Amino acid sequence: MRRKLVAGNWKMHGTLAQNAVLLDAVRDGMSQATGVDCAVCVPFPYLAQAQQKLSGSSVKWGAQNVHQLGKGAYTGEVSAAMLRDFECSYVIVGHSERRACYGESSHLVAEKFLAAQQAGLTPVLCMGETLQQRESGITETVVAGQLDALIQLGGVQALRNAVVAYEPVWAIGTGKTATSEQAQAVHAFIRQRIAAEDSQIAAALCILYGGSVKANNAAELFAMPDIDGGLIGGASLVADEFLAICRAGQV
Ligand code: PGA
Repeated sequence: MRRKLVAGNWKMHGTLAQNAVLLDAVRDGMSQATGVDCAVCVPFPYLAQAQQKLSGSSVKWGAQNVHQLGKGAYTGEVSAAMLRDFECSYVIVGHSERRACYGESSHLVAEKFLAAQQAGLTPVLCMGETLQQRESGITETVVAGQLDALIQLGGVQALRNAVVAYEPVWAIGTGKTATSEQAQAVHAFIRQRIAAEDSQIAAALCILYGGSVKANNAAELFAMPDIDGGLIGGASLVADEFLAICRAGQV
């Protein structure tokens, strides 16, 4: 059976002082939890703080972006090896905010994914449609395109040590969650598409849902057969809310 994962995506939020309180609370709140994995993806400058606070605990940490190359003259960028230096477990790639604000293509996202994996990180590949795309009835086409870019570049094997997150753009930060049925339908579609290439990889793959997951809707979403946890934005900044979502993933 797949284990549930609840990962926080702090985005560009936090201060050293606020993070200290939040990280302590999440670490302590998860110390007795079993049957669920928990992680926080923090801004780059706070990786050392996350490492210092969470080392030796059950809570893992990671980043929200990575460069596709190992090193070089790329001012302002951060490599996967640098993330490993801070003992990151995860890195989010292809978040819709990066696709929209920084023009990241699915091909570039696939390159980032593979660079992360080669460095020993678990990439969290985000995909999802906009409201306009959903209303035009092309959700599956959009998601398939985002997924296929990775499979074309890295082969289906690339999904062996990886996490995928379905995040409908219209549900991110809007308070409009996809219904559990809407989310399940896309999750099942993603898993079937991968199963067409390799059924074992598809069956083992952790597929998260993201988009306005809160303590009061997490359990219903996580109960769906192809939803293996959540990628949590706003609610991951509030310790009690985030911990309640993590508990909803416990078996
Ligand atoms: P949200 O963000 O939970 O605030 O909607 C989710 C995400 O962007 O990963």
